[in-house]
Amino acid sequence: MKNFISVHDVNNIDALVQQALAYKANPFIDKALGQGKRIGCLFLNPSMRTRLSTQIAAQNLGMEAIVFNVGSEGWALEFEEEAIMSGNTVEHVKDAAPIFGKYFDILAIRTFPSLKNREDDYSELYIKQFIKYAGIPVVSLESATLHPLQSLTDIITIQEQLKQTPITGRKPKIVLSWAPHVKPLPQCVANSFAQWVNAWGQADFVITHPEDYELSEEFTKGATITTNQDEALAGADFVYVKNWSTFKDYGKIYESDPKWMLVNDKLKHTNNAKVMHCLPVRRNVELSDEILDGPNSLVTQEASNRVWAAQAVLNELLRANT
Ligand code: CP
Repeated sequence: MKNFISVHDVNNIDALVQQALAYKANPFIDKALGQGKRIGCLFLNPSMRTRLSTQIAAQNLGMEAIVFNVGSEGWALEFEEEAIMSGNTVEHVKDAAPIFGKYFDILAIRTFPSLKNREDDYSELYIKQFIKYAGIPVVSLESATLHPLQSLTDIITIQEQLKQTPITGRKPKIVLSWAPHVKPLPQCVANSFAQWVNAWGQADFVITHPEDYELSEEFTKGATITTNQDEALAGADFVYVKNWSTFKDYGKIYESDPKWMLVNDKLKHTNNAKVMHCLPVRRNVELSDEILDGPNSLVTQEASNRVWAAQAVLNELLRANT
């Protein structure tokens, strides 16, 4: 593994999941691996789980983790090539990234989309510029279109659950269900979840959302897509709840009907489905209290597994590149 920005950087998803679960059972087994190595975690946007789990994962491997809130504490970065920097940006990524490359052995970056210009966001310019100029392995802590550490965590959590309650004679049915939200949110988590479940290939995968909320086919190809949530939920083993703004007419909110919120009543026709969400979650907008506080919710387990996903990825990068 050279960088970790999407599922395409992974040779074997199952092997990475097994490595993560091995770290969950024995967190400090590779404590010597990262001795003397440093990871820089750059946040252009807010985070709780990603920043803490990545730091813990690095420390479990003996690395030093340094967090830099570039978005709120650093110089405003310019990413466009040949920019005439007479506006608000102070430092070009071309100048900053090689310095990060000298300070750190691995660079991890969170950079959200603007949700204003689809072409710009989907070009993934920011993370690609860091890869181009840093000269060290780059890990996505969520980019403009994808959130691979979250998706790896989600596959780990599903596999753990399947180990505990095996399903025989058929593939597990996993449903990605759109939920309402008060703000336009990126498509990253939904894109990434679809990309990973499709690449994993071990599920009957259904995506349900309102009219005009189609995600990019680049990520959803292989899934069954329906605007009928009840139909999608029938027989589901896992329901992954997430809001995203529109992709076609980019970054808009077309729908806010609370009927799309997952409540216990909607689980009636599922196979006692476990419910997942990447968090943070808007209670009683995206997901009801009764689900989040009830026995079907996996959200805390899921968030705790972020550590093991990050540790498995850092292990691969350290072994392959440093
Ligand atoms: N799920 C997730 O990425 O959480 P944070 O935004 O808190 O890092």
